[in-house]
Amino acid sequence: MTSHPFMSRRSLIAAGAIGAIGLGSGLAALAQGQPAAKAARGLPPIDPGRLAPMSEIVGFGGRKEANSLTADSDDVRMYREAVGWMKARSEANPLDPMGWAQHWAHHSMFCATNTFGYQVHYGWFFLPWHRAYLVNLEQKIRRLLNEPAFALPYWDWTRNPRLPDWLWGADNPLWDTTRAQEQGDMVPADFLELGPALRALTFDHFGGRKRVPGENQVEGTLEQGAHNNVHNWTGGEMASFDGAGNDPLFQCHHGNIDRVWEIWLAQGEGRANPADPDWLDHRFWFFGPGGDREAVRVGDLLDTRSLGYAFADLEWRSTLTSKAIPTFDGKGTTFGTIDLGKTDLARIRDLTEGRARGRVSLNYERMSLPIQPFQHRLFLIDDASGAATYVGTFTILPIPDLRSGLERSVTTQVEVPPAGLAALLEAGRVRVVGVPVPLKGRKIPEQPVPFAGVSLTVEA
Ligand code: C2O
Repeated sequence: MTSHPFMSRRSLIAAGAIGAIGLGSGLAALAQGQPAAKAARGLPPIDPGRLAPMSEIVGFGGRKEANSLTADSDDVRMYREAVGWMKARSEANPLDPMGWAQHWAHHSMFCATNTFGYQVHYGWFFLPWHRAYLVNLEQKIRRLLNEPAFALPYWDWTRNPRLPDWLWGADNPLWDTTRAQEQGDMVPADFLELGPALRALTFDHFGGRKRVPGENQVEGTLEQGAHNNVHNWTGGEMASFDGAGNDPLFQCHHGNIDRVWEIWLAQGEGRANPADPDWLDHRFWFFGPGGDREAVRVGDLLDTRSLGYAFADLEWRSTLTSKAIPTFDGKGTTFGTIDLGKTDLARIRDLTEGRARGRVSLNYERMSLPIQPFQHRLFLIDDASGAATYVGTFTILPIPDLRSGLERSVTTQVEVPPAGLAALLEAGRVRVVGVPVPLKGRKIPEQPVPFAGVSLTVEA
């Protein structure tokens, strides 16, 4: 047997043992040194018709909350060791499918692109693609370390908004030196509020709408809210789709996003994943641990246990306590005026007075995506009285090139609390004002990104 440069003797022995109990053929291949040989010859040409199904899932692990762990906890130690190994592999061979650089590049390829067919943000593939991306890494790590119980930690920022300490430290492969925030920093409470996402009744509102080429793409509330906020707030590579996959914090953040998907479904009351075959039968591709391209069907990504993991709990708490609600200081930029002619006031009144179920969303229609991170707090201003109502955050991650398929096509939705809204709308001109959020090391542009209009819609 050729010895594998990055597998210790102990690992090889363990690989044999795990293979023998049937946890996956990928391990056996690894132990025989195949991936190294394949990578050295370069990648096979893409033939999507011949993608292998996702390789057998190896092992099972309970994903734990990041701030409940320390630098010495098993999953943290293994994560650190594996990322270190993966980085070393990439140094030896940048195309190594088990290397960190390839894993990072995979995120850039599907998230930092303006090619419609590749881009997985701004719509209904956001949640399943990122789930598959995390499973892919978890599987690679289990195989690399031969630790079938390893599970990626998730950072439940609703419980503890402090960046996990074990992501810092010179010589720590989990440290990304580009982060604008420092060790011990905490995310502002209103950035983390999950209420708007969890109150959504349809997947369209929660997870994003069906993507149709050439049509408006609607980003889900979870993606537009806490997801984008944590990326932008962290800064550095996390604040761009291009760089984010290089920061090991990414997995902790997305681990929680993935958990919120489970929380949303568990609330019931009709909340459900899309039943559309265009979603269920859509396939993503990844590099499997053996270096082969693997097809992953969205419909096969819906049961986390079958993917080899479960969450420690599905609890969450609202972070927008009364003292966390931002106040309006009179500054800011008018983003738009709500077109009352297009607003269904009667339905908004029904919601306000509890006669109907649903929610109101404020939509920024057909935006152009910015080339700088963009983060504002939105207020509704009653021009007659000057009264301001805090709506929520409005955050976008930049995309490097705007000159193709995504220009002027993305709509974001921000939930508007219905209390008092009908009266406010009836009182006259309502302006939407955005106040740039001061973030470490950056100046957030004051002007809104170009968009086609601001509207209010009611989700039944
Ligand atoms: Cu593809 Cu949080 O990013």
